[in-house]
Amino acid sequence: MCGIVGYLGEQPAFPLIIKGLKRLEYRGYDSAGVAVIDTKGSLTHHRKKGKVDDLLAHVGDDVPTGHLGIGHTRWATHGPPNDVNAHPHLSGDGQLALIHNGIIENYHALKETLIARGHSFYSDTDTEVLVHLIAEVMKSSEELDLFEATRVALNEVVGAYAIAVVDIARPDELILARKSSPLVIGIGECEYFVASDATPIIEYTKNVVYLEDEEVARVSLSAGLKIRTIKNHRVTPVITELEMALESIEKGGYEHFMLKEIHEQPKSIADCLRGRLRLGHGTIRMAGIDDHESMWTEAKRLIIVACGTSWHAGLVAEYMFEDFVRIPVEVEYASEFRYRNPVLGEGDILIAISQSGETADTLAAIRMAKERGAHVFGICNVVGSSISRESDSGAYTHAGPEIGVASTKAFTAQLTVLALVAMRVGQLRGTMDPQQLNRLMVGLDGVPEKVEALLKKESDFKAIAEAYKAAPNALFLGRGYNFPVALEGALKLKEISYIHAEGYPAAEMKHGPIALIDENMPVFIVATQDAHYEKVLSNIQEVKARGGKIIAVVTAGDTEVARMADHTIEVLPAQDALVPILSTIPFQLLSYHIAVMLDRNVDQPRNLAKSVTVE
Ligand code: G6P
Repeated sequence: MCGIVGYLGEQPAFPLIIKGLKRLEYRGYDSAGVAVIDTKGSLTHHRKKGKVDDLLAHVGDDVPTGHLGIGHTRWATHGPPNDVNAHPHLSGDGQLALIHNGIIENYHALKETLIARGHSFYSDTDTEVLVHLIAEVMKSSEELDLFEATRVALNEVVGAYAIAVVDIARPDELILARKSSPLVIGIGECEYFVASDATPIIEYTKNVVYLEDEEVARVSLSAGLKIRTIKNHRVTPVITELEMALESIEKGGYEHFMLKEIHEQPKSIADCLRGRLRLGHGTIRMAGIDDHESMWTEAKRLIIVACGTSWHAGLVAEYMFEDFVRIPVEVEYASEFRYRNPVLGEGDILIAISQSGETADTLAAIRMAKERGAHVFGICNVVGSSISRESDSGAYTHAGPEIGVASTKAFTAQLTVLALVAMRVGQLRGTMDPQQLNRLMVGLDGVPEKVEALLKKESDFKAIAEAYKAAPNALFLGRGYNFPVALEGALKLKEISYIHAEGYPAAEMKHGPIALIDENMPVFIVATQDAHYEKVLSNIQEVKARGGKIIAVVTAGDTEVARMADHTIEVLPAQDALVPILSTIPFQLLSYHIAVMLDRNVDQPRNLAKSVTVE
């Protein structure tokens, strides 16, 4: 959470920082701030509760000048979202300004020590403690410049950080450091860009350096980029070329990023299949598996860890791996798994699923798994993200940047990659016969077109949304492969419309949620013609008998459900394992339209952030 941006170069820093913050607003949007240092060494500092636009309104015409600056968009952890807790934070003498993404876990002990040494604090944040700590280290020895003082101070710090620090005495220098929170440095011609991810950088340069854990960097117009570890070992920067296109991070005529991303799904799924699904050869090519073939053929167990929507993708994958590979699978919330004492070791493959590749709990889970000897296979969307770099092997989802906080195209791309992985492993282990594999490959190849057909029914979705937008509660049901789709449907609705929603396995409804059903309760249910079809019909009857309203996702041409349901949405037929890629899309669109009708902030729902880099 929290987005950080920095600039050092020949252009005015302020507009660049504001533009960068808007790109990073998905990471947090409860307050924002900037600090700019001009060539005469004076610092202008603005902070405001609310969005980047509120900050802009607050700054008004008083735009700070200067070519060195830092900016921050916050998702509150320590202290409520208000002007005072917004970043950048300043040292006591006002000489240093610092922005931070992460959590300093030992901030309380550090704060007590600093107070005993005469420091006083104006905010509730852990970040303010860090800038005071660096100032204190600088004061303790005149030999230490900002770079050295930051490095030394970070040795005292426990926790996660991506930071950028400036010193009014050094208007041509920017100091950066990271541990567990991401930081990218863009290298332009006589200018440097810094950000939590590459989206603010892409329109200026494609050359970036990803800072690694416990590295401290100095960018200076006269001396270039220098990196050392916090233990003072020299590091040679490795420049990577970005492949992202600028258009992919703009709205492209859609009202919201979420709607654009929903409509991008035929393309994102096709991109995910490209080069992997080799229909002509009757095989699947996935380098991350093929390069470690014996490990996959000999694996005894798969453990899938993830959070949020990615965890739902993991639940679908459990059914796939059991069906195609006949291997034991466990699916775990990363936040629980990392604090258990799981029985884990060689012969286990841990699959980590993460859109951002930065989720703190998932990252911690993979580190634990590696320590215990398991092989980590990462499935990430963001290229170059921490999880993708720390995994032993993996596969990208190739869905392109996802900006809307509620995940849509990343989820269907995760389901697609997971199907490919399960099919490839089933092929290698001989648990899938060639005909079954071939049928599924043909099925996967046809998915983008089926998604396209579904997206054409936009007006149907709007009509259903209109009918249920005032409901205070909603229930989502599904069985088998579609049980996780029900969970995901409920999550989508509550995330962006703030309507209370629960997802349940349809048969479990009798053990509790059925008590909630009356004529005001919409029940969204996946009733496609799969192995559980007849059973789901009975569940629909149970809801109808109690007056509930049924909105059913059905297989095209189904008349039986239509007789019982208040509304049906048809998806084209597909193999059971592939249906979730289709059946989840109506729930994305219904949630979207309900949220728009309720005038919610669809792309940036309250209290949420897209990239959860704190535990
Ligand atoms: C946040 C986002 C969700 C996402 C979850 C896991 O809660 O709002 O959309 O599913 O984090 O994120 P990851 O990047 O690891 O998939």
